[in-house]
Amino acid sequence: MCGIVGYVGRKEATPILVEGLRKLEYRGYDSAGVAVLEEDTIQIVKAVGKLSFLENKLQKEKPTGNIGIGHTRWATHGKPSAENSHPHADCSGDFAVVHNGIIENYLELKEWLMEQGHVFSSETDTEVVAHLIEHYYEGDLEEAVRKTLQRIEGSYALGILCKKEPGKLIGVRKDSPLVVGIGEGENFIASDIPAILSHTRKCYLIDDGEICILTPDTIKITTISGEIVNKEIFNVSWDAEAAEKGGFEHFMLKEIYEQPAAFRKTLSGRTAGNKVQFPDFHLPMETVSQWKKIYIVGCGTAYHAGLVGKTVFEQLLRIPVEVDIASEFRYREPLVDEETLVIVISQSGETADTLAALREAKHKGAAVLAITNVVGSSISREADFVVYIWAGPEIAVASTKAYTTMLVAEYLLALYLGQLKGLVSDTLAGEIINALHSLPEATDRILKETAKYKEVAEYFKDKHDVFFIGRGFDWAVALEGSLKLKEISYIHAEAYAAGELKHGTLALITQETPVIALCVQQKTYDKTLSNIKEVKARDAQVLAIAVEGDTEVGKYVDDVITIPEINNFVAPVLTVIPLQLIAYYAAVARGCNVDQPRNLAKSVTVE
Ligand code: AGP
Repeated sequence: MCGIVGYVGRKEATPILVEGLRKLEYRGYDSAGVAVLEEDTIQIVKAVGKLSFLENKLQKEKPTGNIGIGHTRWATHGKPSAENSHPHADCSGDFAVVHNGIIENYLELKEWLMEQGHVFSSETDTEVVAHLIEHYYEGDLEEAVRKTLQRIEGSYALGILCKKEPGKLIGVRKDSPLVVGIGEGENFIASDIPAILSHTRKCYLIDDGEICILTPDTIKITTISGEIVNKEIFNVSWDAEAAEKGGFEHFMLKEIYEQPAAFRKTLSGRTAGNKVQFPDFHLPMETVSQWKKIYIVGCGTAYHAGLVGKTVFEQLLRIPVEVDIASEFRYREPLVDEETLVIVISQSGETADTLAALREAKHKGAAVLAITNVVGSSISREADFVVYIWAGPEIAVASTKAYTTMLVAEYLLALYLGQLKGLVSDTLAGEIINALHSLPEATDRILKETAKYKEVAEYFKDKHDVFFIGRGFDWAVALEGSLKLKEISYIHAEAYAAGELKHGTLALITQETPVIALCVQQKTYDKTLSNIKEVKARDAQVLAIAVEGDTEVGKYVDDVITIPEINNFVAPVLTVIPLQLIAYYAAVARGCNVDQPRNLAKSVTVE
């Protein structure tokens, strides 16, 4: 997820662009840049790192002009570097583009453009847009943009400048957010409302497939085919800080609600029918066939994602999978060699224990594949292969969308390896892929039940001990649910394999002990029901997480929260979401600092 801004008016564009980017830094901060039309030249200034690096550079090279675009980057294709920073230009320097999203067919477009003689200066997907507009430009920028949009596939919010049509700023939206700020003698585009709030509270919310053409005094919005679109003005009532959270009270809640969009990004360009593909790397068959064992290593939530992955990989690849906490892995003399694939999972890509585990695995000759959210992170640079989860920046310390997109990445990777080895039928792959693509809609349905989660959280907020129980996938998810509750509400919680209760933990279950029982997994359902009866017989208070339409479990528990029906193998991705919301609302009810819980950091770069 990146941030784009654009300005056209009668003031100096540069400071307005930089101020807008400052308000969008939460969307990504690998690099930043601006392009300003100065007389008859587009001046582009960009810098790697946080926005402050660009601001320092602009002290020396400050373009002057009244129209410009800006970008703050969360890298998806191409590491954070000067040449990969936006804005991107075409060969002639007549056009400049900023982009938020993923151009899925950029490789084929890039090859075609290079055959046409275009010269590229970056590894990014975005640069193809600038060269396509150059290719199609015959004196009409709007027309060239329309033709370009017919060629590109994927998600985009674009800001476009053209030297030959000064005073005209174009914005386009498809699957990535874009707003138009309506000023007096000036107009704006931005990824999000915070970037324009200090200039205007009036805006247009651009919808998919719409193009907006701005001059200082006019705004024209059309469909891609050119029909005029008349829009209502949206008057922003939020204050600046609330706007950065998109109107949500906390980043954590915003990120929980971003999960449907994040799933679409994680899946973007990686499935074609019942096949999985990873355009950004190729695993030769001889490499894959030498792997006889998989180790999955991570910390905290990433480790919990690995526990789900264990079953996913074992079921689809039929080879042994071990999961280990990174800080344990590196000290246990792990049985790792050239025949082992070590998968390291890390949202930040900087967790010291996980990085150390990666180095230990490589030292022992294993192939290392990273599942991470940060392009150019230490772990992404040192791994042999990388699968990015493309969840966009996760600001809240408590990981939510990163966890669920890690799971989606594991399903994709397991299918990819299974198909390479001929172990996964097209039918089975198709079923799982369809289920993965149904996640956004199913998640939207869960996210509509806010009142229920607030009600349940009211019950938990004053508890001292909460038990989570489940079997199989449900146990792995229970571990993640208990971590969420602990780390943001400070309520002690433990997750147990439901079958373990009778081996000791049951001694702790007394009257009113709160238990959250996950009974989504069908093959262990009856056994989990028996465990629910065990704790109910000791007068525990039980909340069940079950599948919509389950008429049985409600007979034995005090309350039920259901998730939409979905292929049971993919259900863990949904099962965790009610637990995220319960933890969130319990923490809010307790007045905790939800986004920055005490004693914790978003990325633990010390051992
Ligand atoms: C997640 O809610 C926690 N904040 C924490 O356990 C986190 O998952 C862990 O520190 C690993 O971080 P990473 O994914 O960036 O490596």
